[in-house]
Amino acid sequence: MSGIKCFERNGEKYLELISEDQIRQRVKELATKLSDDYKDKCPILIGVLNGAFIFLADLIREMDIDCEVDFVKISSYGGGRVSSGQIKSKKKFDSDVDGRHIVIVEDIADSGRSIKFLEQMFAGTKPASLRFVSLLLKEDNAVVDFKLDYVGFNIPTKFVVGYGLDYDQKDRNLRSIYVLEE
Ligand code: IMP
Ligand code: MG
Repeated sequence: MSGIKCFERNGEKYLELISEDQIRQRVKELATKLSDDYKDKCPILIGVLNGAFIFLADLIREMDIDCEVDFVKISSYGGGRVSSGQIKSKKKFDSDVDGRHIVIVEDIADSGRSIKFLEQMFAGTKPASLRFVSLLLKEDNAVVDFKLDYVGFNIPTKFVVGYGLDYDQKDRNLRSIYVLEE
């Protein structure tokens, strides 16, 4: 689906919001920044499954420092286009992060509840540092107080899919990011 600006599928209308080229460029910039900030620190980048798997894969390949990768799995949507507001951990995270530099890698921050949940999840651990990167931020939609250290793109409050982001588990394989029109 490369280079397609607008298409329809299964009665849904997809409008390109961020192109493959724009994503690649911005991911490179974020990777350069992380490589500078974490030089000689061998950070552990922890991807938030499922949505962040493509972003994380591209991000680390643009980084030119030693780093490690791990994953947490949480869910909040349960299938629809509106978050249930109930965040659940879907996979036990038992890696030792004490004394390590941790970077949590998210696909998108919407209400902020997932970021908050992750902050609390790591509150009982003793990392050397803990930062959050999200490719996307719906800047007008926060309902809790949260902080991101690195953001790829600020986007409007619309439901988006592609580049790892899903609607009902599908559309993650689209190369660009699309607004799924109501
Ligand atoms: P939050 O907890 O409301 O900030 O939502 C964060 C999580 O909900 C993200 O990690 C995504 O998995 C999912 N999400 C939020 N907005 C969207 C969207 O527009 N498309 C697909 N998933 C989304
Ligand atoms: Mg996510």
